[in-house]
Amino acid sequence: MTWMNGYVPPSRRPGELGVHSLDHFSLMVPDLAVAEKFYGSFGLDLEEQGASIALRTGAQPHRWGLISEGPRKSLQYLSFSVFEEDFQPFADRLQRFQIKRLDAPAGLDRGGIWFRDPDGILLEVRVCEKVSPNEKLVFNYSSTPAGQRGALDRSNYATVRPRRMSHVLIFTTDVSRAIGFYHDVLGLRLSDRSGEFVAFMHGIHGSDHHMLAFGKADAPGFHHCSWNVDSLDQVGLGAMQMADKGFSAGWGTGRHVLGSNYFFYVRDPWGSYSEYACDIDYIAAGQDWEALDHKPEDAVYLWGPALPEDFIVNYEAPVAQASSTS
Ligand SMILES: [Fe+2]
Repeated sequence: MTWMNGYVPPSRRPGELGVHSLDHFSLMVPDLAVAEKFYGSFGLDLEEQGASIALRTGAQPHRWGLISEGPRKSLQYLSFSVFEEDFQPFADRLQRFQIKRLDAPAGLDRGGIWFRDPDGILLEVRVCEKVSPNEKLVFNYSSTPAGQRGALDRSNYATVRPRRMSHVLIFTTDVSRAIGFYHDVLGLRLSDRSGEFVAFMHGIHGSDHHMLAFGKADAPGFHHCSWNVDSLDQVGLGAMQMADKGFSAGWGTGRHVLGSNYFFYVRDPWGSYSEYACDIDYIAAGQDWEALDHKPEDAVYLWGPALPEDFIVNYEAPVAQASSTS
């Protein structure tokens, strides 16, 4: 990546096949104007792309999310990216697993490989720049020296603008099956899990503790996208920024055990979330991370306010089947 802290060459684990990044997600929502207000207030840059809007962070050219309008909130697809030399080996691997290749959805680039995971979630693998971090991002904290003010007036703080997307958490009907599929087919590795409740997976070429996570539900769906900011102050200021714009529902501020990140989740108008997160654990290319199975009481958070009762309800599931892990 060339847009943060100078140039850091893309890291890769030699001799092994795996996606290097979660390139972007695509979500359908019932009202694009509401989505523009929500994600714009969150601090993302929005760009019209045909009938959709692209989500970007600051001046970076990368598109982390693509939001389109339709009858109801629904995860459309996840797009993962690989190094150029890994594209054909991926195509060969899919064939070996007898995974059916699909046509690209109408209007989308036909250069990638499209297929479905065991829950029916549409996936793409394509060649693209590595956008998962190549080193742990800087976490800013400095104590104010004696004799100086540490906090400015609120009006002096700039709008919180995330640096990059960190990860997405999706609902799955079978956490173990999802871990197996995303490991065997996409080459992700398990970072941590809590039984059949949640699981977190990282890329083998250097990535955050999780680029993709799973929560158990009775139907597939989109739970949250997570956006990296550089300090705990930015997490709190982000929460205030959203509350000021009318998006006060959410969960936080707190700290996770699995991934260790500090968080505030802002509830979007469709019952899923966007997370301000900082200081998530980082797993370097080539590092063999020991995946642990954590007790349920450790699975959600280290400290913070009580979990909202419906935080893990899958509102994307058909109404009659709205499902929950709790
Ligand atoms: Fe998260």
